[in-house]
Amino acid sequence: MKKKEIFPIKYSAIKINKTREGKVTNKIIYSNYLYKKDIKKKFVLIKVQYANINYKDFLMFKNIRGLIKRFPHTPGIDASGIVYFSNSKKFKKNDKIFIIAKPLGVELNGSFSQFISVPDHWVNKLPKNLTSKETMMIGTSGFTAIKALNETLKTILNNKHKPVLVTGASGNVGTFLIHLLKSYKISVEAISSNKGNERILKKIGVSKTHSLKNFLNAPNFSMLNEKYSVIFENLGGSLISICLKYLIKGGILVSIGNILSNTSTINILPLILRNVSIIGINAEYSNAYERKKIFQIFNSIKFKKKLLKKTKVISLKEVCKILSKKNYNKRNKRLVVKI
Ligand SMILES: NC(=O)c1ccc[n+]([C@@H]2O[C@H](COP(=O)([O-])OP(=O)(O)OC[C@H]3O[C@@H](n4cnc5c(N)ncnc54)[C@H](OP(=O)(O)O)[C@@H]3O)[C@@H](O)[C@H]2O)c1
Repeated sequence: MKKKEIFPIKYSAIKINKTREGKVTNKIIYSNYLYKKDIKKKFVLIKVQYANINYKDFLMFKNIRGLIKRFPHTPGIDASGIVYFSNSKKFKKNDKIFIIAKPLGVELNGSFSQFISVPDHWVNKLPKNLTSKETMMIGTSGFTAIKALNETLKTILNNKHKPVLVTGASGNVGTFLIHLLKSYKISVEAISSNKGNERILKKIGVSKTHSLKNFLNAPNFSMLNEKYSVIFENLGGSLISICLKYLIKGGILVSIGNILSNTSTINILPLILRNVSIIGINAEYSNAYERKKIFQIFNSIKFKKKLLKKTKVISLKEVCKILSKKNYNKRNKRLVVKI
């Protein structure tokens, strides 16, 4: 016999709050309640099994860049689990599902929570050959890397004799990109802010790692040697202007992240004289067809095993500890959260 849903649901979740003095706090609240009436039409209530940690979560724990619209707030942008209660025709109780590259944890409370209530169009059924944990190993970072590569693969393959550059290389998006590029046997160079990462990047196939500090001190010319066909740029700021100078004719700079800054003063000569272009990536801005194609690649991803070795499973308590630090250091691990 099917188990009946029990309402109200009492559940634990991380809550970021702000004191009257403006201090940002975080803790696990163990007694949150959800009532049946809270699950709106076309919404599903999900019992979260796994989540993961992303740069956006780190920003939220520090309340940087005004990402939190309302306090208290639960971060967590990716989730996998099962449908506990459905107010949607698309899903039924016990369906295995995941949410990736949607505004979870921004527009609504996120996945660092035992239960979440979300609109049905954010939710995907779990494919047969992926587990709940594996979808969180890939997550929005993997999705973003695949999307960024799809948009530039033609240029990369047409210039196979030229390397590709990845910045913020040891991060989640960067590591995914390197794995994907290596599966096409593309020569990859990397920029890393941490000398200690050089050995790890070499192990996953990077031919040369440049220090971020040295790269930022490049000679102040309008253009530099034509080195890279495509640059996947995760950090933003002044790095953008330097990267543009190293692109070959018809090369592409893919702007993905803004860890250093949202702004950059650029010299436009590479655009005019080398026909270089800049494209932006927004993982959430993907239509249903594109999402389907990207999820098919999830299924066929050959490096699942490699990824598993790099994954560390942590608890909600550990999430608070890791994301409360001044600089969060993942030690090159993909952090998957068991809820
Ligand atoms: N456009 C989109 O749709 C989309 C989707 C997902 C993520 N993003 C953005 O892409 C960027 C990278 O995401 P991610 O998931 O790869 O992040 P991540 O796992 O936190 O990695 C970021 C990497 O950047 C490097 N880094 C350099 N300076 C840093 C600093 N001051 N603080 C932190 N890291 C620094 C580090 O690599 P090294 O040690 O090798 O330097 C770090 O591992 C973020 O800005 C994120 O918000 C965008």
